Order: sequence, then C-alpha cells, then structure tokens
Amino acid sequence: MFIEDSLLSYGEKLVLKLKELYSSRGYLPYRMSRFEEYDFYAENKDFLLSDRVMTFTDTNGKLMAMRPDVTLSIIRNSKDLPNTLRKLYYHENVYRSGRGSGTFREIPQTGLECLGSVTAEDTAGVILLAAESLSVISDRFVIALSDLSVLEDCLGLPEFSGTARPDLLKAVQEKNCGEVQRLFRDYNVSPEKEKILITLMNLSGKLSEACPVLERLYSEVRNLRDSTFPGLLKQLSQSSFSENFRFDISVTADMNYYNGVIFKGYTDGIPEAVLSGGRYDRLMRKMKRTSRAVGFAVYTGLIESNESRKTGPGSFLNIALPKGRLGESVYRLFENAGFGCPGILEDRRKLVFENPEKGVRYFWVKPMDVPVYVERGTADIGAAGQDVLSELEPVVYNILDLETGICKMAEAVPEDYREDLSAPLRVATKYPGIAGHYYRLQGREIDIIKLNGSIEAAPVLGLSDVIVDIVETGKTLRENHLHIKEIIMPVSARLIVNESSFAFREERIRDLAGRLAEAVRGKK
Ligand code: PRP
Repeated sequence: MFIEDSLLSYGEKLVLKLKELYSSRGYLPYRMSRFEEYDFYAENKDFLLSDRVMTFTDTNGKLMAMRPDVTLSIIRNSKDLPNTLRKLYYHENVYRSGRGSGTFREIPQTGLECLGSVTAEDTAGVILLAAESLSVISDRFVIALSDLSVLEDCLGLPEFSGTARPDLLKAVQEKNCGEVQRLFRDYNVSPEKEKILITLMNLSGKLSEACPVLERLYSEVRNLRDSTFPGLLKQLSQSSFSENFRFDISVTADMNYYNGVIFKGYTDGIPEAVLSGGRYDRLMRKMKRTSRAVGFAVYTGLIESNESRKTGPGSFLNIALPKGRLGESVYRLFENAGFGCPGILEDRRKLVFENPEKGVRYFWVKPMDVPVYVERGTADIGAAGQDVLSELEPVVYNILDLETGICKMAEAVPEDYREDLSAPLRVATKYPGIAGHYYRLQGREIDIIKLNGSIEAAPVLGLSDVIVDIVETGKTLRENHLHIKEIIMPVSARLIVNESSFAFREERIRDLAGRLAEAVRGKK
C-alpha cells in the first residue's frame, strides 16, 4: 500500500524507518496489551524510571495498571528460551508521571530486545543498531557508554553499605568528583579504588583516548580482568560510527537489574537522552528466567517535539548565571578564567549578553531558575547554589565547586525552644524539599510552612516552631534571638551542565571547567 508522504508527521515517518531497519536485521514485531495487573509492576518498582504507576480497577475488581514500561511486559509474556536468540522490536506507548508536573504522560517508544543466548557479539550488534537508529534522526548524535562492573567493584566494598551507596552512585552520575573524594575520605575507603574512579570520571569520552587507558586499568584490577567491556569499546572504535561513541562513566542504571554495558543516546539540540539501553541479565534472573538479555528504546516522542531545535558545533556556549550578589562573584570567576563579557555588570536591566569572540552567551536569571534553564538545555551550563540543587534535584551534572557563596543550610530554633513531641513540628522554610527529606530521615512528623523570604520572622511571630534556612554570617539569626540546632549541609555555588550539551561539547566544557578551577584556586 502506498501512503502519501505529506500525510505522515516527522515522528510517524521516523517510527516507520526504525521499524523497517529492525525488520531488515531479522527482528520480529511484538505487540502487547496496554494494561497489566498492578501487582506485577509493584514487585518490580525499582526497575521503573518513575515510581508512580497509573492504575484503575478492572470490571472484576482487580487493580490494573497502564503499562509504565515495555521491557518488563515483554519478558513476562515471552518464553524462557536460553539456547536460542529471540530478536523482537516494538512501538508502544508507556504511561509515566512527568517530572515536576505530577500529571501522567503518554510516552511513545520504539525499541528492541534481544533475549536468550545473547553473546558479546550480539551485544555489540545491538549497540551498533542503536547507533544506526540515531543516524536515521541526525548525523549529529552521540552514544555514551559505560560499564557497571567498575562501579560494582567500588560499591561492593563493605565500607559503602547503607546510605553511602546511593550517595556514591549519585555523585558519579552527577560527575561530582569532589563529592566522590569526600565519600571515600569520610568512609575510610582504600585510596586505590578512589584513584580508579576519579581517573575514569576525568577520562576523555573520545574512544581513541579512553580505550588504551581502560585496557590498562581493567588488566590491573582483579574483578575487572574478565570483563568484555574494553574489547567491546575497541570494536566500536573500529566501526563506521567510531566518532559517535563515547565512554562516560556517569551513565549508570539500577544494578539489581542491569549488568555490564549500559548506554544512553543523544541527538544535538535535544536536551535529554533520546535513547537508553543496556545488558539486563539480572532482571531476567529476578523474573526467574535463565536467558540473557540486551535491548534499548528510542524515545520517539521527544524527537517529534524537538525536531526544529538544532545547534551547530561552533555555536555559543550558553551560560545561566544567578542574578544578584552570588551571580556577580561567579561571573568574576568566568572573567578570570578568560571568558569575560564587556558591559555585563553595568547594564542592570539587560538579561542576555554575548561575547562572540569567546563564544559565550550569558543569561541573568533568578537563582532558583538556573537549574531549570540548564536541565531544559536552554543553557548548556550554569552556576547554582547547592541549596537550590538539593531542593529541585534537577537532572544535570554538578561538576565543580566554585567555592563562592559559601554558607550552610541549618535548622534553627528560638533561644528558649523546647520541643513538643506530642504535635507535628511546624517548620517555616523556603526549601520544603530539603526540610521534608531532613525530617523524614529523623522520623519526625512535620507541618511545612512554605515562605518566600524573611524566614527568621516566622518563629518570632509564632507562625512556626523552627526554621530551615540558609545561614551565612549568622547575623540574622542572632538579631532574631535564634540559634542553629543542626547543620543540614554545607552550601556553595556549583558549576552545573546539561547532559546532552556535555555529550556534544565535552572538550569545550572540560576546558572551561579546568580554567574555572584554576580561577577558583587563584582566589584563595
Ligand atoms: C538569606 C537567608 C537568611 C540570611 C542569612 O536571606 O534566608 O535570611 O540570608 O544571612 P546571614 O547569616 O549572613 O544573616 P536573603 O538575604 O537571601 O533574603 P530573604 O530573607 O528574602 O530570603
């Protein structure tokens, strides 16, 4: 049947091309129901990207769910055939709650799963097919790959049990070398493992540079000696997509489900990953299957809605700065690092400034909005206080401590404070996320009173029992007869980076971060 081309949207054409591609490589189409019993997803909650599942009650009273994930359903509904290779592709919608909005979204995915007697060769084939899928969308794409074995080698250490484990994982995901070093120090872990992790976090993503380092490193570490990862990267570096693949240790996934290689794909101009995949033999074990498995999904919905946003390799590096005192001191660091922009501190009304010679464009935005601009890719990088980052938890890299705007987040109480455990604690704060998390860990029931400023007035006027707020000199606390009860965390300005921008502009961003680090050291 012939379909008039103009009747199809960009997204529909893309899905057809992907289906054609997968079918030409021997993959068979797979259809599944939109609904599953809720219990099935509840059992595998950790595997799901979002912990909220859309539910409804069936006519027979059973609690059902709108499918939040395709892979789980495919495994559940297909036979366990460990000695044959089954190659399946699908185009399905999944239902997940959107970040921040709290509402559910229908997300179209086109992907494939390879189940059964999966070999290293099959895994390489799937990754190359992922690259081919993105080449259908744009010639400017990147696939960032990592190996979970390295992280497992560190996280498996007895010192990293309990909360240290997720903290270390988060620090690696955020490319936060300073935090990784702090965790190794605080938990007294062997400096040898720390050195490996830091080397990998600072390693260039370019395969020509990463491969030799990885080969040497893997041969030296007992737990990594049998890993096929360096061989896989070498094979990819010899493929026609060699320039599109990059090594990136910050690509991670839940280790209860995934094992070995995992990857994320980006196309230039789209601020988040448009593809993700990996080896998930552990999920198969969890679901009582003996087969091995590897697969990936392309988030075709993202591509449809962002088709027109393209940036070139020579384009400006967009930098979001927080308006106010903090922003000015951060800007001075950029200036000392060689990225000055004439007039930027003079004109208070203008919000966007460019220096074409240095290839930088600055925006002045509200401090709380900096992570939003960076996460959404309007800014490639930005400077935000750790308070703002902990409050909003944006998906961004947190690569450098700018060591300015130094203060602390604290719980403060009136001088004559006596805690009344028989009632919920009334907490006034600008940071409901941080305060909520802090008291949850203590098992304390609270009543959060969200305010926008002058927090210290709340207990003085009887609106709250305590406050959670920033303390810099402590003067405001003293003048209002309050004192610190507990320091919740140290705060300083951080350099944050959009993940897709990093994938495409790694060299420029690393260079800028390196110069900024020098400027920070020069200030001391
Ligand atoms: C911040 C913070 C404290 C004060 C702490 O307020 O919320 O109120 O600074 O500084 P100090 O320890 O040096 O006294 P900000 O000036 O941002 O104004 P706000 O009250 O409107 O939030």
